[in-house]
Amino acid sequence: MAEEIDLSPAPGARGVRGDVVLEVSGLDVTFPSADGPVRAVRGVDYALHRGEVLGIVGESGSGKSVTSMAVMRLLPNTAQVKGSVRFDGRDLLTLSEVEMTRVRGSRIAMIFQDPMTSLNPVYTVGAQIAEAVRAHHDVSKQAATERAVELLDKVRIPNAKDRASSYPHELSGGMRQRVVIAIAMANDPDVIIADEPTTALDVTVQAQILEALAAAQDETGAAMVLITHDLGVIAGQADRVMVMYAGKPVEVGTAEDVFYTPRMPYTLGLLGSLPRLDRPSERLTPIPGAPPSVVNMPPGCPFGPRCPKHTARCDESEPELRVTTGPGHLAACHYAETLAGQEATDVFASEVADHEALAGLAAAAEGAGTDGEARA
Ligand SMILES: Nc1ncnc2c1ncn2[C@@H]1O[C@H](COP(=O)(O)OP(=O)(O)OP(=O)(O)O)[C@@H](O)[C@H]1O
Ligand code: SF4
Ligand SMILES: [Mg+2]
Repeated sequence: MAEEIDLSPAPGARGVRGDVVLEVSGLDVTFPSADGPVRAVRGVDYALHRGEVLGIVGESGSGKSVTSMAVMRLLPNTAQVKGSVRFDGRDLLTLSEVEMTRVRGSRIAMIFQDPMTSLNPVYTVGAQIAEAVRAHHDVSKQAATERAVELLDKVRIPNAKDRASSYPHELSGGMRQRVVIAIAMANDPDVIIADEPTTALDVTVQAQILEALAAAQDETGAAMVLITHDLGVIAGQADRVMVMYAGKPVEVGTAEDVFYTPRMPYTLGLLGSLPRLDRPSERLTPIPGAPPSVVNMPPGCPFGPRCPKHTARCDESEPELRVTTGPGHLAACHYAETLAGQEATDVFASEVADHEALAGLAAAAEGAGTDGEARA
């Protein structure tokens, strides 16, 4: 069974904090393909403030990773990237490769789903953290080693001193991910981008990784982009949330806006698919269907084919992201206002009925199966 999640907003969540540290504007990424251009990212804008956590959420293929890889300039050369990524007064998209290498790791740290992509299998984890420490501080080898142990302790690796001499393959997936976070801490970045950092891990370990990320933020004061397909992961972590669908942000707001007064049916659907601690008896309402292909997209709202609120107007024009309940709360839906006071079970009601019908059919089929065996 899926774990239950507390959807309370992060303590002190209020959206805007310090200065803007990273500003993504009009980001567009297209890949050529035999079937036509793959419009992976279509107009992503966000401003990340010092110390804040921006959660980016959306189903598989919505463009979350491509957005971050574009920021880090890690996309293949075939990718056509437009827009700007302002960091430290410069546009990262125009930097030379040498300058960009300096930014990666030390100023903007990236944490991937698979920690082995960032770890070197032939060095001990302690040595790898110590190396990061020495890259940024003029300290002795011994001081760097001691700092490495301290950082392993901060990400709650038990027996940090002994563990420092382990090789990556001697650690569990969760421990490895904590080592990657410790390396990010040693690099003292301004921004941490974590792309599905907990996806391959079980629920208890997920919580530990999220704690380690919070510790890394405390230690470095970094802003964080936390990418996940699971709204539950960012509940309690994110100050602000950007929901993506078919390469575009479709709802943006504080965690409170998005969790408590969503104005885009897709967000409501994501919330309805989540078990909630505050409503243990409520049924789940999965969103029917699958996301559209981002090749040769038809005009109109990309969520249209799955949306219970869909009308003919939705097929004519794609809704712009626009202000809804307050200045920082935007949604891309022609009928955003009609969601006021609505729950997932109100909007996706037919899906609940379908599920009941399916459950009935399944029960009938089971009965028929038993009968069939008896008859055979
Ligand atoms: N190198 C590439 N060449 C062609 N298309 C690509 C490439 N990388 C990604 N895409 C396409 O871009 C779209 C967005 O992919 P992306 O990896 O950003 O999704 P995602 O939201 O991170 O999904 P997931 O939750 O599965 O990680 C998808 O349609 C994907 O197939
Ligand atoms: S614009 Fe129409 S199809 Fe798109 S989310 Fe809103 S109601 Fe649904
Ligand atoms: Mg991804």
